Amino acid sequence: KDQQQADLLTLYADSAKMYQHILVNTELGEPALDYLHQRGLDDDTIATFGIGYAPANQLLLDFFKEHNVDYQLLRQSGLFIENQAGELRDRFVDRVLFPIKDASGRVIAFSGRILKKSPDEPKYLNSPETKLFNKRSVLFNFDLARGAIRQHKSVVLFEGFMDVIAAYRAGIQNGVASMGTSLTNEQIYMLERVTDQLYICYDSDMPGQKATDRALKLLGDQSRLKLGVVQMPDGMDPDEYLRANDATKFQQVFEDGKQTPTAFEMQYLRHDLNLQNTQDQLTYLDAVLQQLTQLSSSVEQDLYLNQLVQEFGLNKDDLREQLRSLVGQKS
Ligand code: CTP
Ligand code: MN
Ligand code: MN
Ligand code: MN
Ligand code: MN
Repeated sequence: KDQQQADLLTLYADSAKMYQHILVNTELGEPALDYLHQRGLDDDTIATFGIGYAPANQLLLDFFKEHNVDYQLLRQSGLFIENQAGELRDRFVDRVLFPIKDASGRVIAFSGRILKKSPDEPKYLNSPETKLFNKRSVLFNFDLARGAIRQHKSVVLFEGFMDVIAAYRAGIQNGVASMGTSLTNEQIYMLERVTDQLYICYDSDMPGQKATDRALKLLGDQSRLKLGVVQMPDGMDPDEYLRANDATKFQQVFEDGKQTPTAFEMQYLRHDLNLQNTQDQLTYLDAVLQQLTQLSSSVEQDLYLNQLVQEFGLNKDDLREQLRSLVGQKS
């Protein structure tokens, strides 16, 4: 059984090498390499992350068949799709491949990005779950980032591969990705073991904000991590922001743009409200005060109460009174 796992790991390592070779050294890989260059990745970055390319033919299957790799092993690897007749074919076809590694840096899965948008195919295609790949307990780039996480005493959580890579290029190397938008308890547990400060830097579009809100709630309930939120301007994701700006600007967002969870929520709560009307103003104030009841620091509460006083021309003593009565209702 251990032998089987070792064989799978070898198979993934060989596949990663193969895919990388095709991307970097062959004519087949040129369109994909151009695609990555256009997205601002240089050859060092491509090598650092072990990015590869799965061409449009059955290259991987042929390669392993030629080397007489065990059929059952190929079946279990998730790298191939099996038809009714029990025949295999490559799962990843004409996609840029990001190897997904475990905490020790061993390749355990791949995610493939399509080169051109297509309505019938997903943008990213992932390996299926296998004995080695449990999606819930993997964070992209955890292996590479671990040193920087310890050094900076913090971790930055991104949505996607290209965001982690963008941050890395901009000098922020303590980044990992939850690969999509739902953070899991297993991932939280991995992070808790290496740091006590987490910054969420999900996409600043609406799905990303929703996911941030959800992650904050989950983390608030399930972990003792200190939390912060970083949002890129103008609804962009970190990769888009870096490409539209430069590394200095990108770093500046991290210097100046760190928000407390409450500050994020106060802004997020506005998304489906129209604060021009009094009805929504009351809804908003109620929701914000509810948020504030969860804070243990009265100084921090004060900070936000001052903002409400400013924005809505309210009396601070009244707000404080209201807050106190909400806390009273809870206990
Ligand atoms: N994702 C996925 N399957 C999809 C879409 C997204 O697994 N069909 C995951 C990927 O890990 C992706 C992350 O969710 O990196 C964030 O999704 P999204 O913001 O839509 O993609 P980007 O990371 O911005 O991808 P790109 O910049 O390459 O367009
Ligand atoms: Mn090029
Ligand atoms: Mn997104
Ligand atoms: Mn994105
Ligand atoms: Mn993106």
